[in-house]
Amino acid sequence: MITQADIIGICEQKFRKPSVQVAAPGRANIIGEHTDYNDGYVLPFAIDKRVYFAAAPNGQDHFSIYSTNLNKELTLYSSQVWDKGFARFFSSVLQIFKKYNYAVSGLDIVFGGDLPIGGGMSSSSAVTCGFIALLNDQFDLSLSKTDMVNLAVEAEHGIGVEGGNMDQYSIVNGVKGKAILLDCLKGTSNLIDIALGDKMFCLFNSNVTHNLSDTEYNTRSRTCKVAMAKIKNHSQEIMSFRDVTADHLQYLNSIEAKRVSHILSENLRVHDAVKAFANNDLLRVGRLLNQSHESLRDQYEVSCPELDFLQASLLGSEFVDGARMMGGGFGGCVIALLESAKLKDVALSLEAVYKERFDLELDVYPIKPENGLVVSSV
Ligand code: GLA
Repeated sequence: MITQADIIGICEQKFRKPSVQVAAPGRANIIGEHTDYNDGYVLPFAIDKRVYFAAAPNGQDHFSIYSTNLNKELTLYSSQVWDKGFARFFSSVLQIFKKYNYAVSGLDIVFGGDLPIGGGMSSSSAVTCGFIALLNDQFDLSLSKTDMVNLAVEAEHGIGVEGGNMDQYSIVNGVKGKAILLDCLKGTSNLIDIALGDKMFCLFNSNVTHNLSDTEYNTRSRTCKVAMAKIKNHSQEIMSFRDVTADHLQYLNSIEAKRVSHILSENLRVHDAVKAFANNDLLRVGRLLNQSHESLRDQYEVSCPELDFLQASLLGSEFVDGARMMGGGFGGCVIALLESAKLKDVALSLEAVYKERFDLELDVYPIKPENGLVVSSV
């Protein structure tokens, strides 16, 4: 497993002694899926799988960037636009910095880590946020956390994913032991205590990799925008999805109505889950996860056979309180709430049936809320 110390060592060997190091975590989301870009609520947290960076100024006008995970190096000029591979994240950030006149110059950068790429734990946002934090530190830009989140969201839109702000917000603002109840309309959040006792959250990575911009993700986002425009057309008092009720579904076609039904019910589930955590009612949290999965599968239609199989198989175990697909969908992970002492048994039998059914490996990651982005000098 690659560590921050490894990344620093590689930077020294390959380029020069780094002056800054950054650790950018991935994120998990307990509940509130596809609600972030629909003015809704989410309940994510940062996890202890990270992308590490080490960097130093190179006195040039270009960025030399080496990815340890891909064993690939490239040279990037601010004026160049890349739309492929890992370079596009760096390139998009540089375009946004140029737009806002943030002055930056060349760096030698090494990055890599143990956050699976394309596994639905937001490796792309970890790279984007990590690079922004690194530039902020090296060029004394005095960006606030909110600035960094907004710049990262804009940079990712530049890559072609019309996503919300859940990933970037939780990566930048994660707090150990707490989940973040984020109001995506207002951009405000509350920290929620997650007391799991003898239970735990665990991610089951289907190893079906996805590329959000290649999937139906943007189609979902656009359908919701069209639905909102239709609703506003009929009811001028509606300002956002926050004001929408089941009565408004009559103005929509059947696909739009399904998508909006998911948004309405998922937002209620987020609040129910927060109440259930406050009451220590983990069985209720589990039931909400299952309902969320059904809604994502049947109303929002962003699941896939592998995720449905994993979720259904997990529910077959008496040690699992609940499970659902997590993130954008069409691959990635299932998140489950289960008895910690039974994780090994549950994982072993699931790995076997999953391999037999899909000829795919299953990766299992126990997770708990961790601190967000850390930047420090070397
Ligand atoms: C992806 C996006 C997030 C969010 C989720 C679905 O992870 O990056 O902004 O929309 O999908 O909840």
